[in-house]
Amino acid sequence: MGTGGFGHVPVLVEEVMTFLRCEPGCTYVDATLGGGGHASEILKRTAPDGVVIGIEWDEEALSEARNALMPFGDRVKIFRENFIHLPDFLRKESVDGMLFDLGLSSIQVEKAERGFSFKGEGPLDMRMDQRINRTAADLINRLPLEELETILFHYGEERWAKRIARAIVQERERDPIRTTQRLRKIVHDVIPRRFHSRRIDPATRTFQAFRIRVNEELDNLGKILETGWKVLKRGGRICIISFHSLEDRMVKETFRRLEKQGEMRILTKKPVVPSDEEQRRNPRSRSAKLRCAERV
Ligand SMILES: C[S@@+](CC[C@H](N)C(=O)[O-])C[C@H]1O[C@@H](n2cnc3c(N)ncnc32)[C@H](O)[C@@H]1O
Repeated sequence: MGTGGFGHVPVLVEEVMTFLRCEPGCTYVDATLGGGGHASEILKRTAPDGVVIGIEWDEEALSEARNALMPFGDRVKIFRENFIHLPDFLRKESVDGMLFDLGLSSIQVEKAERGFSFKGEGPLDMRMDQRINRTAADLINRLPLEELETILFHYGEERWAKRIARAIVQERERDPIRTTQRLRKIVHDVIPRRFHSRRIDPATRTFQAFRIRVNEELDNLGKILETGWKVLKRGGRICIISFHSLEDRMVKETFRRLEKQGEMRILTKKPVVPSDEEQRRNPRSRSAKLRCAERV
């Protein structure tokens, strides 16, 4: 159990705190509050008067964060929002540091009824924000073959995209695909045995692909990379932790472009990854990559 309330262990905490510099009297944005793990560290280190503006769009995570951050009183301001709206309600050049810790929090993965994990049996929901109007099941049962294939290929980087998409269409004609275990079985049956890895479940990429599409994760990241840094003061810093190569590439390329344009200075030439010790302690941290830049 970590400091994240429901057992979400925050990743790369010391590294993030060092980059953000965390000083009293300063204002930080935690754009992906989750269980409030990183936010509570920032608040501890910026006592007595540092402020955290926390954003989270998942109602369940938000109530965990509210509990975890209660002791800090009005030093925390919490908004239930998609982080893409950040520039609409924060003044330009008003923030000293911001953090995006992308991906899922443990409560989302561990609760079978959220449908993110193929480990338990649950409905194919996969919405991080319960206000999103279509679930993974809606997409899986309604989208045309070509679009399913594109999702699997692009967001899942799945080499068996065509076969899986075809199998989904065949199966849904028999009976709509509604549960995590049914989707998992379809993928398992379609990928030839000899390509099943022992380390990674063959359904991992398929689940990742639909999750990214349901929540429009890459679109959201793209939007906030374009505009989010403008709320930083000059000298303010942005830290982004990503968990798969598509996101990391977007962050890397945008930081490089902004550096060329003279807007930002990159502080991490290479992404910072968790120490061996952290990876052992918290297996979820294994794929984490942190990149940080400073507004010029
Ligand atoms: C990895 S968790 C963050 C964990 C947090 N740093 C902690 O220490 O507890 C990522 C969180 O970001 C939220 N999230 C993802 N995309 C979002 C978006 N576009 N707007 C708001 N919250 C988002 C997810 O719902 C999830 O709770």
